[in-house]
Amino acid sequence: MPESPKHLLIVDDESALREAIAERLADHGFQVEQAASGEQALERLAEFAFDILVTDLRLPGVDGRRVMEAAIDRYPDIIPIVITGYGTVKDAVEAIKQGAADFITKPFQFDAFLHVLRSALEQRRLKSENAYLRSQLENRYRIDGLVGRSRVMRDLFQLLETVAATASTVLITGETGTGKELAARAIHHSSPRRAHRFVAINCGAIPETLLEAELFGHVRGAFTGAVGTRQGRLEQAHRGTVFLDEVGTMSPALQAKLLRVLQEREFERVGDSHTIKIDVRVIAATHSDLARMVVDGTFREDLFYRLNVIPVRLPSLRERREDIPLLVQHFLQKLSADSGRGTVTVSQEAMRRLMAHPWPGNVRQLENAIERSLAFSHGRPQIDVADLSADIQNQPGPADADTTWFPDDGVDFESYIEAVELSLIKRSLERTQGNKRQAARLLNLKRTTLIEKLKRLEPRGELPKPPI
Ligand SMILES: Nc1ncnc2c1ncn2[C@@H]1O[C@H](COP(=O)(O)OP(=O)(O)OP(=O)(O)O)[C@@H](O)[C@H]1O
Ligand SMILES: [Mg+2]
Repeated sequence: MPESPKHLLIVDDESALREAIAERLADHGFQVEQAASGEQALERLAEFAFDILVTDLRLPGVDGRRVMEAAIDRYPDIIPIVITGYGTVKDAVEAIKQGAADFITKPFQFDAFLHVLRSALEQRRLKSENAYLRSQLENRYRIDGLVGRSRVMRDLFQLLETVAATASTVLITGETGTGKELAARAIHHSSPRRAHRFVAINCGAIPETLLEAELFGHVRGAFTGAVGTRQGRLEQAHRGTVFLDEVGTMSPALQAKLLRVLQEREFERVGDSHTIKIDVRVIAATHSDLARMVVDGTFREDLFYRLNVIPVRLPSLRERREDIPLLVQHFLQKLSADSGRGTVTVSQEAMRRLMAHPWPGNVRQLENAIERSLAFSHGRPQIDVADLSADIQNQPGPADADTTWFPDDGVDFESYIEAVELSLIKRSLERTQGNKRQAARLLNLKRTTLIEKLKRLEPRGELPKPPI
């Protein structure tokens, strides 16, 4: 959304200084009004909700502090900046205590003033953005620890809730760290089985010989070391849900036994002939392509169809970069609560780099990155670019090695890069409804550079289609 211009009221009885600042601020896109006295300022404040108040502290009559108080009282979100005379730092400190966002001491250079103003605006923006993200985390954009507000995640949440109401078998697919286990738990916790157990078993982490006994249990003497009779994980999940993670790693023999469980809901403990009946919901997960394994003959086709009754695909983080700020907020809250630290924010530039990273390890990797940067920020209230690991800092952008397609017969480098440029420019213009200044800002380009590039690239016509 294009940002609307900020309305600023400047209060100073020194007209030359006031007018000079007002004029230059207007050049920088601010909507400026002036007041020559405290009284005048109070009148204007009574009529109009300014975003920013800049006031000299020393004014004849109603002084700057009273103006500021009145402004904050009426508009708690206003950004008050005070101007103090040389040698009156004490007044400035007092003003900050009373709610001034910052101060600047006369005489000053306009650029220094602009800097104070911009950083106060940035602080305010971050603060309100954080408050916004926090409020989103509290309600709609999460179920059971799964966080996201992108279209794909909202669709996923809806699917999980629908699926939870059924007893059908679910196959969850997705890259590593995309939240497959969280999704399985979310289904269980929203299902009528929630009062019973959720039993997770990672088929890929247990040696083949032990997996069978782990799943089905065993009787005494069933194999060397089976000193007693033991219940298997399936039995433990009776009336609840069993989560079979990395199901693609199962041997053909176990695949056959699992198929029987899915078809008949029955099995025998290892070394026993007594048949056990159970009532269990099965959720399986895999990061491999099971359909491909069926074609290759390494996974049973009938089992695949029995598992894949309801397919649930978890999107990679690359497909939903817009969720990154919300996830970052989520992890910051979680981690700073653990460590007893106060509210921590992320600078705009650091967030840009986080959003540009390809995240091959998805949400798990993002969580680790936030934990690391929190440690490196040494208690400061804001995480900055320098606190991120080098690979995230030096992010070349989304068209990196991980996502770049490469045709067999090569590519024309120059026109490919131009196509990427044009595509980014077009997307940023779409995002800003055609506002070139905003679009240039999103791309970290000068507006004139963006316009030049558009002029140069657009008439080229058909360029190879970039993959991003
Ligand atoms: N949408 C999400 N919101 C919040 N946290 C998430 C989300 N997705 C994943 N996580 C976090 O990322 C980590 C990995 O999640 P999970 O174990 O569910 O992933 P997985 O897909 O099962 O990964 P793997 O294939 O490696 O087993 C966990 O710490 C989890 O809390
Ligand atoms: Mg997992």
